[in-house]
Amino acid sequence: MILGIETSCDETAAAVVSEAGEVHSSVVSSQAELHSPYGGVVPEVASRHHLELVLPVLRRALDDSGTTMGDIDRVAVTQGPGLVGALLVGISAAKALAWSRRLPLAPVDHLDGHVASLYLGPNPLAPPFLCLLASGGHTLLLAVGGHGSSERLGTTLDDAAGEAFDKGARLLGLGYPGGAAIDGLAREGDPEAFRFPVARVEGLDFSFSGLKTSLLYTVRDLGVAEAERRKADLAASYQRALVRALVGRAREAAELRGLDSLAVVGGVAANSELRRALPDARFAPLELCTDNAAMIASAARYGEMLPYPHYLELDAYASLS
Ligand SMILES: Nc1ncnc2c1ncn2[C@@H]1O[C@H](COP(=O)(O)OP(=O)(O)OP(=O)(O)O)[C@@H](O)[C@H]1O
Ligand SMILES: [Mg+2]
Repeated sequence: MILGIETSCDETAAAVVSEAGEVHSSVVSSQAELHSPYGGVVPEVASRHHLELVLPVLRRALDDSGTTMGDIDRVAVTQGPGLVGALLVGISAAKALAWSRRLPLAPVDHLDGHVASLYLGPNPLAPPFLCLLASGGHTLLLAVGGHGSSERLGTTLDDAAGEAFDKGARLLGLGYPGGAAIDGLAREGDPEAFRFPVARVEGLDFSFSGLKTSLLYTVRDLGVAEAERRKADLAASYQRALVRALVGRAREAAELRGLDSLAVVGGVAANSELRRALPDARFAPLELCTDNAAMIASAARYGEMLPYPHYLELDAYASLS
């Protein structure tokens, strides 16, 4: 049994996952409401709340799975990328738990975690496949050759796809985080009402900053009252442009690499239009799209494991190397 811990951003999460990839429990406590008044995550506020939540969340994960620390063989924790102050709370908890029980510790890269959300459950996906990882902080195209090994084919040159959803939602007055709000409102709107541009950048990279600016100008030109009246059309058209960009590049990459298996992970994989636009792709289960610890425990099955007691100096890292 693997005990996973995730505290890289504003979700405090713990999970118990078996070596075979069965999820025995997955507890996620989101601080989104706390950060919502600020329009984004405030790092210091996040760290403090992780500190308050990490033990209750861990206890819940053990209780829900019907296990105790005595049943745990290994502790897995997100090492980065993320907010360093937030990561350190999870890492400190993981070290203390592992060390007190003389267990090995597996440091996990958060992005490997998102990919490993596909390896859980009764019907895990087997590599090779082309993976679109679209989250709040990243937009990556990965050629996944094996469990725990992938090659990066493309990334965003500016905003991440989830960030573009969040910034668009903010412009439309939908609050933070905004991806799910745009998704919901778009169902009532006409996706062809406005024509937002899809940036064409070289290679397999993405760019979303022009799209966001285009929404800003459109809203400004419409004026407050008209923009409010046409909010659903704006949301639907904006989402259409984002989805078109993601789908286009993902298909291009898959073709280029001769990979006929396509998968989508990360918070944006929850988007209903993206799911409809890629009917043949494999999507992470909805509850495992946004941050969770089950995916971290899953990735630990394939990655590095530090034996007791050689992990007390383990440190967090903030960004992609
Ligand atoms: N239904 C949806 N449609 C579009 N975007 C969504 C939806 N649900 C969530 N999101 C977006 O997903 C993002 C959060 O995803 P996730 O938790 O994977 O990101 P993160 O952990 O903050 O970033 P990273 O994984 O890159 O560190 C937010 O930007 C949110 O708006
Ligand atoms: Mg994430």
